[in-house]
Amino acid sequence: MEMTEVKKIKVWDIAVRIFHWSLVVFFVIAYITGEEESELHDFAGYVILGLIVFRVLWGFIGSHYARFLNFIYSPQTTINYARSIVEGKPKHYLGHNPLGAWMVITLLVTLGLTIWSGLELEALEGHGPLAMQVNIVESVFADDDESDENEHESEHEGDEFWEDIHEFFANITLMLVFLHIAGVLFSSYVHRENLIKAMITGYKQNKSD
Ligand code: HEM
Ligand code: HEM
Repeated sequence: MEMTEVKKIKVWDIAVRIFHWSLVVFFVIAYITGEEESELHDFAGYVILGLIVFRVLWGFIGSHYARFLNFIYSPQTTINYARSIVEGKPKHYLGHNPLGAWMVITLLVTLGLTIWSGLELEALEGHGPLAMQVNIVESVFADDDESDENEHESEHEGDEFWEDIHEFFANITLMLVFLHIAGVLFSSYVHRENLIKAMITGYKQNKSD
């Protein structure tokens, strides 16, 4: 039996944990309800928008490990970390490791782009917060239209354009999520620590490797 004292350290505050598991639930709902026009889809999308806005704010005012300042790593540090994995002795971080941290930031960005393109789609149907902007843009371009007959057609093109973009970012995000989960499992394995449990309880064990 090891005699070294293992200290429990609070890493993820309650807000980060609720944010994370809500994001998981609503991302799954948003993804599977996307195929058809669905109120649940829009609702899930708006909840995720709220979660992302909250998380960005929390990245400035939240607890130590939640703050961006504590998990924005330089390219050099990130490369060194990747190298330490390849060499078989990965450096241990209490908060996000550098690769995980960049994944977190990338996920927040692609989620934001998915939501934005979703709102543009909504706007084309005359709904949502961006509907006003579309009306203005349309009225500006309306003058350039050769005839009114084109209007209906171009609306459909816009629909397809934003639908493709929306689908693209939703699928990019999904792929990153799989990579994210793989990273979590890999990191849990090499450090012999259960990161998923830590995201539930908030606690990690202090290890000095
Ligand atoms: C992270 C959040 C979101 C995810 C993961 C997501 C995912 C998806 C997916 C996978 C589709 C199907 C795309 C296709 O096969 O063509 C879709 C369609 C759509 N999404 Fe989202 N979406 C999100 C947020 C939003 C938001 C915030 C809105 C706007 C309120 C929105 C509005 C729409 C609309 C209007 C469609 C087209 C539905 C139709 O077929 O008529 N989405 N979304
Ligand atoms: C069941 C699937 C998932 C599991 C097991 C999981 C697990 C985890 C774990 C363990 C962490 C902490 C990583 C660390 O210790 O550095 C984390 C962080 C994170 N995950 Fe997931 N995750 C899942 C799904 C998702 C999904 C679907 C998304 C987004 C759509 C997501 C986005 C994030 C974000 C943004 C963070 C950073 C948390 C923060 O600092 O606020 N995860 N995840």
